[in-house]
Amino acid sequence: MQKKFGDQFLIPVPGEPVYFLNHPDLVREFLLEKPRSFERSYLDMKSFMGEGLITSDGDLWERQRKLMGEFFKPRSLENMIPLIREETAKSLDAFSSASKGPGLFRVEEELLRMTLNVVCRGLFSTQVDAEVRALGEDVDVFMKYIVHRLRSPVRLPFGTPSPRFFKFKSHLKHFNRLVEGWMNARWEDPHRQDLLDHLIRWGKEQHDVAAARRQIRDEVITMIIAGHETTTHALCWTLYLLAAHPHEVERVRTALRNLPDKELKTLKTCAPLMEVYQEALRLYPPVWYIERSAKEDVTLGGVAVSKGVRVAFSPYLIHRHPGFWERPEEFAPAFHFGEGKSPAAFSFVPFSTGGRSCIGKFMAEMEILIFLAEFIEKFDVETLPGITYGMDPLITLRPQKGMSLVLKALSST
Ligand code: HEM
Repeated sequence: MQKKFGDQFLIPVPGEPVYFLNHPDLVREFLLEKPRSFERSYLDMKSFMGEGLITSDGDLWERQRKLMGEFFKPRSLENMIPLIREETAKSLDAFSSASKGPGLFRVEEELLRMTLNVVCRGLFSTQVDAEVRALGEDVDVFMKYIVHRLRSPVRLPFGTPSPRFFKFKSHLKHFNRLVEGWMNARWEDPHRQDLLDHLIRWGKEQHDVAAARRQIRDEVITMIIAGHETTTHALCWTLYLLAAHPHEVERVRTALRNLPDKELKTLKTCAPLMEVYQEALRLYPPVWYIERSAKEDVTLGGVAVSKGVRVAFSPYLIHRHPGFWERPEEFAPAFHFGEGKSPAAFSFVPFSTGGRSCIGKFMAEMEILIFLAEFIEKFDVETLPGITYGMDPLITLRPQKGMSLVLKALSST
């Protein structure tokens, strides 16, 4: 890629050219030094996410980021650890049953269930499994509709009547009713320590309560969308890489056995585990493409970019840039992230950088580390020869055919 196109180039998408950056210094200039010159560009998402943290811009985004940032501090998120352990245990039980039978297990489906439950139970204290499943279906329909539009060679205006659109609308109605119900149940007495109550307490102080309730609904869907597929796909690719590199499983397992306990802060001192976690995010960053649109004329890397032009970079390509990674295509956790190694500035950006970097980074890290530590202690994992494990790079970097792996429970389980 670098050899062929260099570090910055224009992709001639008809009518909407994209100015593409492929160098860590340009990522820094784009997101850290000149963020105010850019705004969100792909606005179809607003049709169901409204003005939540991902889709909003300007003063509204700044206020919301501050409000949500108060909740997403590591200290308050640590309350979620027991829940993450409980959901991890359920998934490993499902893995364990599957490992008794022959053949492949669709790990992606189980991991989607787990991460959706962590978001819904951890952030909104949802108690009802059926509600979580229904919400999962709603979100699935929204994403499929958006992906269908992205893939269509001719993009009709949003809302053009079609069976797909009617299905989208009916799920949107269902979703809104459900969240409305949550808000009604708690509005008078927000007594839990979750994100929903944090937002309700804020909402009750607002002059325009109806607008505040809309905003809360938008933040709820934003968290569900941002917080479950990303973590699921990070885990899917990590398991896939481990399946292809059994010696790495052994290396992590040995290190885990030598830990005094399995507290999160202890897991973070387990170098092989942290190296695998980071190396998998390097090779398969779930958010593989980041785009904005120029709000004004601006320069990037000394090149003039006109107002309205879309500007993008791909963490996937930056993470495999041969100028910054010695063995870019290889899974080499200790080589890239071992003792004394640290990636060049802005060459490792799975959670992006700057003011709009991932607010859920710590939550994702908790889920992934806790899950991996439990998994590696209890299972071996293998790919099946003859199956291709391709990528489907759409909104997140998902496995093309789901992620199906062979699971082998260790004898102690
Ligand atoms: C491994 C898992 C995850 C990865 C790799 C990831 C990655 C990212 C990246 C790269 C961005 C920036 C996107 C852009 O600027 O266009 C982002 C933003 C965001 N993420 Fe995550 N994310 C993960 C998990 C989560 C979780 C668990 C949550 C919350 C429950 C979350 C909530 C958000 C939100 C709300 C934003 C928008 C922030 C803003 O614009 O202020 N993410 N994430």
